[in-house]
Amino acid sequence: MCGIVGYIGTQQAVPLLLEGLGRLEHRGYDSAGVAVLGPGKEGRLRVAKRSGRVRDLAEQLPKRFAGKVGVGHTRWATHGPANDVNAHPHTDAGGAVAVVHNGIIDNAAALRAELAGAGVELVSDTDTEVLAHLIGRSDAETLEAKVAEALARIEGTYGLAVLHSAHPDRIVVARNGSPLIIGIGDHEMFVASDLAALVRYTTRVAHLDDGELATVTTAGFTTYRQDLSQVARIATDLEVDASAYDAGEHESFMRKEMLEQPEAAERVLRGRLDERFGTSHLGGLDMEARELRAIRRVKVLGCGSAYYVGQMGAGLVEELARIPADAEAASEFRYRNPIIEPDTLYVAVSQSGETIDTLLAVQEIRRKGGRVVGLVNVVGSAIARECDGGIYLHAGPEVAVASTKALTTMYLAFALLALQLGRVRDLSIADGRRLVAGLQRLPEQLGEVLALEPVLAELAAGLAEAESLFFVGRVRGYPVAREGAQKFKEISYRHAEAYQTSELKHGPLALIDASVPTVAIVPDDELTDRNVGALHEIAARGGPLVVLTHDAVDLGDLPAQGQVHRVDLPRNERELDPIVITIALQLLAYHAALALGHDIDKPRNLAKSVTVE
Ligand code: AGP
Repeated sequence: MCGIVGYIGTQQAVPLLLEGLGRLEHRGYDSAGVAVLGPGKEGRLRVAKRSGRVRDLAEQLPKRFAGKVGVGHTRWATHGPANDVNAHPHTDAGGAVAVVHNGIIDNAAALRAELAGAGVELVSDTDTEVLAHLIGRSDAETLEAKVAEALARIEGTYGLAVLHSAHPDRIVVARNGSPLIIGIGDHEMFVASDLAALVRYTTRVAHLDDGELATVTTAGFTTYRQDLSQVARIATDLEVDASAYDAGEHESFMRKEMLEQPEAAERVLRGRLDERFGTSHLGGLDMEARELRAIRRVKVLGCGSAYYVGQMGAGLVEELARIPADAEAASEFRYRNPIIEPDTLYVAVSQSGETIDTLLAVQEIRRKGGRVVGLVNVVGSAIARECDGGIYLHAGPEVAVASTKALTTMYLAFALLALQLGRVRDLSIADGRRLVAGLQRLPEQLGEVLALEPVLAELAAGLAEAESLFFVGRVRGYPVAREGAQKFKEISYRHAEAYQTSELKHGPLALIDASVPTVAIVPDDELTDRNVGALHEIAARGGPLVVLTHDAVDLGDLPAQGQVHRVDLPRNERELDPIVITIALQLLAYHAALALGHDIDKPRNLAKSVTVE
């Protein structure tokens, strides 16, 4: 959840570290810090850190903060509040070691007690500080051995980078459950927890695997297992456009990423649709028709919005392929000792590919012999590497904490998967072709929803005034409502609760009055009449309504202006309408947050990828 960046080379480290940290701020933004090793054989270690944003750190940095080796960090607090002392880097008692760390040390309390018993004065509340002391107190000769020795005492997850004033020619990094990438430059090297921090300098990278360490010097890198036996890691050249990591003329990444959805949709569909046979081609799945036909159940796992879109996807699979399918929060899954079935296809969904709960669920399934495919955006990420096959989303880099374009591509990847599963079973060629045509129309229709922004912005400003809101939908519309509520609460900080429309009168209707608006999803489908009936029940109790619907839907004689607003959205095939409606919900959330003056890309308490349990 935190961001790590490191540099060793021929340039001054601090400007590069600050630039990298600025690009990692979406990963954690309650405090920031840097450490550099000054020139000389036994370089002097200097640390500057403070709570607040990277720009606050930059403003207070002493002018002379020279050094060509350094590490930096943006924090998302886990142990102890966001303050200057708890900010990383953390140092040992002698001030020789600096550590930046992403992850959680589960046995930190025991190690803190042990260190305190040995007379070490711990200055922060963090788990990370114990690592700095363990490394500093190690008698091992090399920095690699000191780090490995310290890591052997640690239970938990980490991505970390270590500086030592007695070893000024190197940064030692390690990974276990939190991402760590090495970037290879020309007589200079970078380390980072996210490609975003180094993509402006190099696109030649090497990924560490869990349980590995690496020594990074100006000349290159060497990777080891934790017993310090060497392991070969080959660097690869990534095809990435550095400008994709800039907001450009947009006032926020979220807005930019919402507007990119038609293109992202085209990319995930490109080359994967088969008009003739009304199906899809998904080479990355690496499964033959015979294996697809043998699947008896589909289980989708993801967290947050990825879970909600997973629920939409499970619905698609059941509807098109008639295979029992459901979605579950990956964060809960492995704690109930799930039954792993050989004829179930497990689908892990993740933008970042680093969400620890999803990754651990994948590992648990594979440990028990299950087959997992990944719907993942970040190429080469941990989940993508852990799965047996998958569908890359090609959404492009997503920086805003609120996921938009990645979600849309997840939905479309599910549609492609469901289509293929359906066409090797009972789905007719006519229905397959109908859906292929629907998918082909989608990118343009997403653009049409985005063009409704002014109308949705006005409605959002009204919704933003309410302290509490409902988002309701039925069957296909219910996960859409869940995602709408999630997006709304995430960035507007309003209490937004999703319900099945059918469940309202079993309890929540008690809360409806003029101060509690409901955003209702009422597509033109087999449930329209039922949905419209519920709208009348809400309106009869004075509840304001925003109805996301289609022009063919007759809402009856609901009270006019002021209390009921309808927005007619473009109509696709009924199975594919959920994603069209989701775009309208993104715009409502975005404009509510804007009206409330919030920092759209960095909502309070959240971070882009959740790499701690
Ligand atoms: C989405 O708006 C959220 N920020 C969050 O729920 C996110 O979808 C979730 O943390 C999963 O992330 P992932 O897709 O990177 O695994």
